[in-house]
Amino acid sequence: MKLQCTIPNNSKSYEIEVRNGLLKDLASYSTTLSSRFAIVTHDSLSASYAEPLHNSLKALGNESFIFTFPSGEIHKNREIKESLENQLFEKGLGRDSCVIAIGGGVVTDLSGYLAATFCRGVPLVMVPTSLLAMVDASIGGKNGVNIPYGKNLIGTIYQPHKVVIDPNVLKTLPTADLINGVVEMIKHGLITDHDYFEYLEKNSEKLLKLNPEFLEKSIYDSCRIKKEIVEQDEKENGKRRLLNFGHTIGHALERLSNYLLYHGEAVAIGILVESYMSTLMGILDSVSFERIKKIIMDYKVPLRLQEKFTPDAILEAMRTDKKALKGLPRFVMIEKIGSCLDYNFSYCTQVDEQIVKTALQWMNDDLCRH
Ligand SMILES: NC(=O)c1ccc[n+]([C@@H]2O[C@H](COP(=O)([O-])OP(=O)(O)OC[C@H]3O[C@@H](n4cnc5c(N)ncnc54)[C@H](O)[C@@H]3O)[C@@H](O)[C@H]2O)c1
Ligand SMILES: [Zn+2]
Repeated sequence: MKLQCTIPNNSKSYEIEVRNGLLKDLASYSTTLSSRFAIVTHDSLSASYAEPLHNSLKALGNESFIFTFPSGEIHKNREIKESLENQLFEKGLGRDSCVIAIGGGVVTDLSGYLAATFCRGVPLVMVPTSLLAMVDASIGGKNGVNIPYGKNLIGTIYQPHKVVIDPNVLKTLPTADLINGVVEMIKHGLITDHDYFEYLEKNSEKLLKLNPEFLEKSIYDSCRIKKEIVEQDEKENGKRRLLNFGHTIGHALERLSNYLLYHGEAVAIGILVESYMSTLMGILDSVSFERIKKIIMDYKVPLRLQEKFTPDAILEAMRTDKKALKGLPRFVMIEKIGSCLDYNFSYCTQVDEQIVKTALQWMNDDLCRH
C-alpha cells in the first residue's frame, strides 16, 4: 500500500510504502538513488535489520557501510551526529551518497538531521522499526537532536526520498514501545477521522497479537492522516498543531517525571485530561468522552503516575509549551470523535485556568488514582 506525500513549495514528492515483507525489496529500490550507502542504526538492531540490507546492497555491486550508535534518547545528541559525520568522511563518503536510517524515532530523527546537513543534503531513506517511528517520527520531515536546553531544539525540516515500512519488524519490538505508537494512532483518529477511530475501537485485541493485516491497514491509515496534515502545514503554523492533541499536558507530565513516564503513557493521560476539559466546557459530549476512555483501556495503556504533581506545578511546566502565548498554554480542543475546533485556523485556544485545574485535579483523584 502506497501513499504519495507532496509538500507545497517543496520540489520533492515522495512515497510512503507500507507492506509486510517490504524490507526484502529495499536494496533494489535504494540503488535507484545512489550506489554508495551509509546505513545508520543502533548496535542492537544491526544484525537483524542492517546487515541483511548491507549484504544485498554489496551483492548488487554497491558500496555500503554500517554506522551504529547506542539506543536511548540521551544518544540523540550533537556529539553522536558529529561523530557519525566524521566516520562517513573517513570512509570516503560524500555528496553522492545516500543515508538509510533503520530504527526507532531516535535513529530516524538523528539520521534525518545528518542527511539534511551532510554535504548540504544527501538522499535519505527512512526505515522506521518502532511503531511510533512508523506512524509519527518518520513522517513529516522534522528531525533533530536534544541539547542541554531542551529536546529537539536543534534540527531541520527535511523530507526523505522514501519511507519504507515493514510491519513484520515489530515482532522484535518490546510491548511497552508498541504502546507509544498506539497512542499516536488513537490520537490520529480522534483529531480527524471518526471511521479510523472506529476501526481501532473494533480491533484492539489484534494489536498485541501483531495481526499482520491489522498492522498493515492501521499503520497505513495513520501515516495517511499525518501526511495529509503535514501537506497542509509543513512548518506547524496552523493545522499541524492538531498533532499536539494530548501533548500539552503529556509533555508537562513527561518533563516533571524526569522522562520516567513513557511518551505514550503521558500522552494517553494528556488526551484524557484535555478531552475532559472539552466536556467541562460543554464542547464534547459525555458519551464520546467515555468512548475515548474505553479505547485507551482496551489497548491496555497504563494510566499511572509514579508521583502526583500539583495542578500548579503542571501549569508551570506548560508555560514553555511551543503553543503557549505570552506564557499561557493553549490547547487543541476536541469537539467530537474525528474533529477538533479550528479557532480561526490557529487550531488551539487558551482555556480558563480554573477549568485546567479542575481537570488536573480529576486526573490526580480519579483517572490516575492508583
Ligand atoms: N520527527 C518527528 O516528527 C517525531 C515525532 C515523534 C517522535 N519523535 C522522536 O522519536 C523518538 C522516540 O522514538 P521511539 O519511540 O521509536 O524510540 P526509540 O527510537 O528510542 O526506540 C525505542 C526502543 O526500541 C528499540 N527498537 C526500535 N525498533 C525495534 C525493533 N523493531 N525491534 C527491537 N527493538 C527496536 C530501540 O533500539 C529503542 O531501544 C524521540 O526522540 C522523539 O523526539 C520525532
Ligand atoms: Zn507524541
